[in-house]
Formats: sequence, structure tokens, C-alpha cells
Amino acid sequence: MKLLILNGPSLNLTGYREPEIYGHDTYLDLIKKLKEYAKSKNIKIKILQTNSEGKIIDHLQDALYKGYDGVILNAGAYTHYSYAIRDAIVAISLDVVEVHLSDTKTREDFRKMNVIRDVCSACFEGKHFDSYIDGINYFLEK
Ligand code: DQA
Repeated sequence: MKLLILNGPSLNLTGYREPEIYGHDTYLDLIKKLKEYAKSKNIKIKILQTNSEGKIIDHLQDALYKGYDGVILNAGAYTHYSYAIRDAIVAISLDVVEVHLSDTKTREDFRKMNVIRDVCSACFEGKHFDSYIDGINYFLEK
């Protein structure tokens, strides 16, 4: 199995950015944890981060062209308003699992708006790095 783990804006600043919300562990710690977990489960993962909405869409389309079995997506703030990313998720007809470090349901009102949730296969949030592990497990159990 081959999964794409795609991170959106400012996730590269994890560990430095609002640590009271996103934690003190860094983006490199996240990559290390996911790579170790994938190795232990004998699956292939590719981890990408971009701040750009268009690049997220390019990477989602690439996931289809390059034969990935699914995508784990933390679209960051785009989650709350990007119809372009929503349309791309529908267009590729691959399983896309939405993940978040924080629990967006218990934060500011604008984060309660979510334009991708109903087109994603599952959502795991509020468990910091373990939200991504839950995302990998979703594909392992499928
Ligand atoms: C986030 C939650 C979003 O609301 C926020 O804009 C982010 C990070 C998370 O992982 O908790 O950038 O996706």
C-alpha cells in the first residue's frame, strides 16, 4: 500500500506555531513518527507540505496519476473555505482522509465551517500526531 500524506499551510511550523494548540513537537518529529510507523506496518508513504492551495490540488491529482491507494490530508485553514480543494477531492475519486492536529469543533466559530468533510472518507482530529496514525490505520483496516 502506498499513501500520500499531504499537509497544507503552516503545518511546517508545527512545534513553533501556537504550541499551546499544536504542541511542542516539530514538523520533523511528525515526519519521523509517521515514517517509523509506516515502516513498522510495511507500507509506503510520501509526506509533502505546501502553503499553496493550487499545489495541494496538483498533489491530489498526482496521487491519482501516480497510483496512490489514498491520501491523508491536513488542509489547514483551507479546510474551512476551499471549494477548489473540495472539488479536487471529488475529482480524483480516491479515498481521502481528513486529519487535524487540533479539534476544530471546539475552537473558533469559523473553524466549525468545513467544506471538505462530507467528501472525505473519514476524519480524525484533536489527537495531535496520533490523528495521522489513525488516518494510516483507517487504510490498514480497509
Ligand atoms: C489545523 C486546524 C485548522 O483550523 C488550522 O487552520 C490549521 C491546522 C490542525 O491541524 O489542527 O492550520 O488543520
